[in-house]
Amino acid sequence: MGARKRSASPACAVFLVGFMGAGKTSVGRTLGQRLNWIFEDLDDRIQEREGRTIAEIFRDSGELEFRRAEHGALRQLIEDLRGRGKVVALGGGAFVQSSNSALLKASGAKTVFLDAPVEELWNRCCQQAGESGTERPLLQSREQFDALHRARRKVYLKASERIDTGGRSIEAVADDVIQRLGLKKLRVSQATRRN
Ligand code: S3P
Repeated sequence: MGARKRSASPACAVFLVGFMGAGKTSVGRTLGQRLNWIFEDLDDRIQEREGRTIAEIFRDSGELEFRRAEHGALRQLIEDLRGRGKVVALGGGAFVQSSNSALLKASGAKTVFLDAPVEELWNRCCQQAGESGTERPLLQSREQFDALHRARRKVYLKASERIDTGGRSIEAVADDVIQRLGLKKLRVSQATRRN
């Protein structure tokens, strides 16, 4: 008998997809707390595996090499999925690579597209660059940002769910994800006991 392919239970992993500035990391962290699931940002795993920052990978090795590293990190992350629930924030370009969306599909995990008007995404990215110095190699001109967003949005729409985040709080969006996917939110008393 051949080896059985292990796939994550659909209820056990949620991948947040969407453009730069969509709030994947902030929503993911809150979602993880609300569900008592582990939260992971794929970009952090890439940096750890490579021993350099995303900006350094882009600058020294180029985008193609970054995409290779991203794919390797995603494959490893999916292989590592175990029984305990996990929320994952993907970088803005991860889901648009067909090799990555194929891996996600095969894993059985849910994908949620966090959508917002491009104007708001641009403003959030500029604000983050100014406030926390967040470096995004693909944050260049407004024209390039709009064109990339237009090209990618149709691919993001292939995610299992689409949630509007425009003008909404991180908490409201996280609760929406829970509701849409029919997940169980931790009760306050449970949350206090576990923290
Ligand atoms: C990228 C988005 C970034 C990061 C890398 C490439 C993209 O993540 O993965 O700079 O291609 O849109 P965020 O979406 O978290 O900014």
